[in-house]
Amino acid sequence: GKLIGDWKEGEKLASSGRGGHIGFIQPDAPMTPRGGNCYACHQLAKKEVAYGTIGPSLQHFGKLRGASDDIIKYAYDKIYNSNAFTACTNMPRFGLHNWLTPEQITHIVAFLVDPESPVNKD
Ligand code: HEC
Repeated sequence: GKLIGDWKEGEKLASSGRGGHIGFIQPDAPMTPRGGNCYACHQLAKKEVAYGTIGPSLQHFGKLRGASDDIIKYAYDKIYNSNAFTACTNMPRFGLHNWLTPEQITHIVAFLVDPESPVNKD
């Protein structure tokens, strides 16, 4: 399948606060759009100055690692089920717990690796 989507959609999802909170995933009221809340734990685009540091900085993720099929698959799988790589990670398992749809995850992958994304631009 296609593992890379639209970085503009991914940017919205990454900065939406309705994501996994530390240690557990608390569903919000039904019908509210879900998000990744990635900034709670990661630095991503430079323009966003408020971010948590529980996770490693992801700034320039695509610039540093490229956008090969391997990197795209790694980023997708990491967001889908972070524990597949690091047991007991603090990072929520967005896909496995149906927090984000596979399509939404492809948008976040694009936000991380697309050369035009603000993660890699500035
Ligand atoms: C509750 C904190 C938390 C949230 C929220 C979170 N992460 Fe993470 N993330 C971590 C931690 C801790 C690590 C490092 C340990 C590990 O690899 O699991 C990590 C690792 C990663 C890695 C691997 C980094 C590398 O150097 O290979 C990627 C990619 C990633 N996160 C992307 C995301 C994205 C995208 C989101 C939003 C959808 C997100 N994370 C949300 C805590 C979080």
